[in-house]
Amino acid sequence: MQCKIINLEPITNDKEGRSPVQTTNDKFLSWYLENGRHDLPWRRTKDPYRIYLSEIMLQQTQVATVLERFYFPFLERFPTLRDVAEAEEEAVLKAWEGLGYYSRARNLHRTARLTGGRLSETAKELEKLPGIGRSTARAIACFAYGEALPILDANVRRILYRYYRRRQATERELWRMAQRLFDPEHAYEWNQGMMDLGATVCTPRAPRCEGCPLAESCRGRAHPERYPAPKKRAAPPLRRRRILLHQHEGAWAMQRSRERFHGGLWHFPQTEATVEGEHLGNLRQSYSHFTLEAEVWRVPSLPPGLSKEVTYHSPETIESAPLGGIDRKVFVVYIR
Ligand code: ADE
Repeated sequence: MQCKIINLEPITNDKEGRSPVQTTNDKFLSWYLENGRHDLPWRRTKDPYRIYLSEIMLQQTQVATVLERFYFPFLERFPTLRDVAEAEEEAVLKAWEGLGYYSRARNLHRTARLTGGRLSETAKELEKLPGIGRSTARAIACFAYGEALPILDANVRRILYRYYRRRQATERELWRMAQRLFDPEHAYEWNQGMMDLGATVCTPRAPRCEGCPLAESCRGRAHPERYPAPKKRAAPPLRRRRILLHQHEGAWAMQRSRERFHGGLWHFPQTEATVEGEHLGNLRQSYSHFTLEAEVWRVPSLPPGLSKEVTYHSPETIESAPLGGIDRKVFVVYIR
């Protein structure tokens, strides 16, 4: 199904003389046409891969960051999903370096291989692929293949909580609300527009209700900040570690992470124990679920447990390997 271009004619009385009252949907669609971010590159393409890549990158990263630093270089390195399928996971992680949440890159690679570089074409099938949840599956199916289903990303959720004046809601309820408000006749514009409304008008703090096309029927309008109820988030725990720089014949000791977190990325060996050597300095890095405070040490030898875990690499190899955030900093500051 192709996306429809909506009618931009001024609304006048129709032949039956019905009044020119705009429905909420009309207002919303007019708002999108006037104010939507139509120039975003993933809105100027029908290539399912380019749309899929954008949705994955945008899952946990701001539009500006994706646009300025990651989307185009990734596409240059991997112009098609087949190119991703044919690459090693490490090359995909390298192109993802700095973007964080690396399971996205690993899942992208798995999806590329599972599909042989040709994405499934329905939300139902897309949802079975690694890293593609229900909302992402629907976004891809809607934007690439014209399937008329609502999405439920963080922006849409916030709009729904406010529009229906809910402080809390279950997933089931949120999906039901999304479906109730949705305009299946203009699915593409609706879904893109809801994300734009959430990003520019119905913002988490200081929403601009006066410019909102849904304001008239929005039940939360009087106190939008009350909806949804704020989540009680504990401060992320602090992890203190020592990062060990050990050189042997011009090469540096490194490990490849096998943990789920940072799986496939390379890092310098770390320990919680005290070490002998030269304390070079301290670095700090925030991750989604903890903050790392690291002392960087240059050591003449590695503790026995670690020395069996490492392999040695030249600075040139490390330069081109996928590194975690703090390890890239260590490399740039102390080695390169
Ligand atoms: N966030 C997730 N998907 C998006 C899209 N298609 N446009 C803008 N922001 C988004």
